[in-house]
Amino acid sequence: MSPKVLKEPKSQPLPAIHEKPHDPEQAGNPRPAGPCVVVIFGASGDLAKRKLLPSLYNLQVNGLLPDEFAVLGVARSEMSDASFRKKMAEGLKQHGTVKIDPAELKKFESRLFYQQADYTEASTYKTLKSRLADLDEKLKTGGNYLYYLSVPPEVFDDITNALGKNGLVKEENGQWRRVIVEKPFGTDYDSAVELNRKLSAVLTEQQTFRIDHYLGKETVQNLLVFRFGNGIFEPIWNRRYIDHVQITVAESIGVERRGSFYESAGALRDVMQNHMLMLLSLVAMEPPTSLQGESVRREKTKVLEAIKIMSSEDVLRNAVRGQYSSGTVEGDQAVAYRSEEGVDPESPVETFAALKLEIENWRWAGVPFYLRTGKRMANRNTQIMIQFREAPLPLYGGSRMSRIGPNRLLMHIQPCEGITLQVRAKTPGPTLRTSPVGLNFNYSDLGATPSTGYETLLYDCMMNDATLFHRIDTVLNSWQVVQPVLDVWNSIPPREFPNYSSGSWGPQAAEDLIERDGHTWWKPGC
Ligand code: BG6
Repeated sequence: MSPKVLKEPKSQPLPAIHEKPHDPEQAGNPRPAGPCVVVIFGASGDLAKRKLLPSLYNLQVNGLLPDEFAVLGVARSEMSDASFRKKMAEGLKQHGTVKIDPAELKKFESRLFYQQADYTEASTYKTLKSRLADLDEKLKTGGNYLYYLSVPPEVFDDITNALGKNGLVKEENGQWRRVIVEKPFGTDYDSAVELNRKLSAVLTEQQTFRIDHYLGKETVQNLLVFRFGNGIFEPIWNRRYIDHVQITVAESIGVERRGSFYESAGALRDVMQNHMLMLLSLVAMEPPTSLQGESVRREKTKVLEAIKIMSSEDVLRNAVRGQYSSGTVEGDQAVAYRSEEGVDPESPVETFAALKLEIENWRWAGVPFYLRTGKRMANRNTQIMIQFREAPLPLYGGSRMSRIGPNRLLMHIQPCEGITLQVRAKTPGPTLRTSPVGLNFNYSDLGATPSTGYETLLYDCMMNDATLFHRIDTVLNSWQVVQPVLDVWNSIPPREFPNYSSGSWGPQAAEDLIERDGHTWWKPGC
């Protein structure tokens, strides 16, 4: 049961990353990307329909796609260009974030192409090569290709190898070739190392864009701007003023039609290892020397490196897992996880995970970070709550000794988007009493147009800006944080599953985890 000795991911030599030079004028006024073809492997899947195509459409409407542009969808399903266009147009109407303009849609559809393919067949890549050459000739896309691997991780390797063999990732004569790799990057520390070894046999680090769609969310990017664009918070952003931090990623949905994928993932791999540790790193990182490129990536990696690696005893004490039973979520009946399609009726897979983490550096020593994520929770809400230490001398609580409650900073990531600072104010009336009030900022006040979150990431990849993508050492450090938990949970099957009702806030053990330290989970809400 003892966690295995983990390898040192820490100081790997890293190749220089291509970076878009920071040009403040350009930053405020982005220009269209250069000519290219976006090749989406797994184009008949949900991600393409719900997110990727709607975000490319949004980029087009905002004038950020070049005139010389095409999308080539590649997938197993049989479809013609025409039926692919029809399917994607339907997806756009259903999942698009903006009102569809008929002229823009017509233009967008005319740029979509499809190729039916078996990823393991050599002939697939020969056909792909000639389709791409055709598109280059007709649309002047310049031989620049962005491959998006929206396929199960087991086939990443087959695809990149075949692309390599067919000369489709070779960058020459000024042409660029980049690959976006979807999460999960591996299933644990060792498999991530192995996957990286295989990919790097074909691709350079500069060509590899490991995506985490949380980093494309406006509110997540705003975390950095909030911290480092305002001088007033940084002096109190440390152990002297902050009592503890809570991060919640609550989902009201279950596993939907992804039961068989989820059986090999679980909440720890699906959300904790990537999205949640990214949120933690943005809250806890040191100020970078600039908000662009390598310096942000370096600081994010350093803070993950500083998280204390749990012993098995720590895991038993500081990690909680859960699995949902049936119940009512937002008024609707929900079945138990074990009754979902594609799920083993005795599945030991967790749909909820909570961790207490400690960051062992000068800024954060002694400040616990509580993280929890779960499916079929009471509502959908992603929020970061920073709880400050209480005022040293409570003058207004009735008696001098009573507590008046701490100040809190709530960073609403979704569905509400904004920031609330909770302070105490005098309750109106003749007696001197106080109430908590919120100073609010809503992201919508800035006139933000709704987006899928993928727009920035796709555009950045076309522009060769890797700031919001993961370096391999970031990925390995985050696997290193969750690896002891994976090991212990793997070796001790859960006895009490299912242990929380759909529509609740997770298992009792998660409440106990935080209450032991004298805190309670902040109920996220707008
Ligand atoms: C994905 C997970 O990465 O993130 C899903 O695989 C999860 O299980 C999703 O539902 C949550 O993303 P969002 O943007 O809806 O919070």
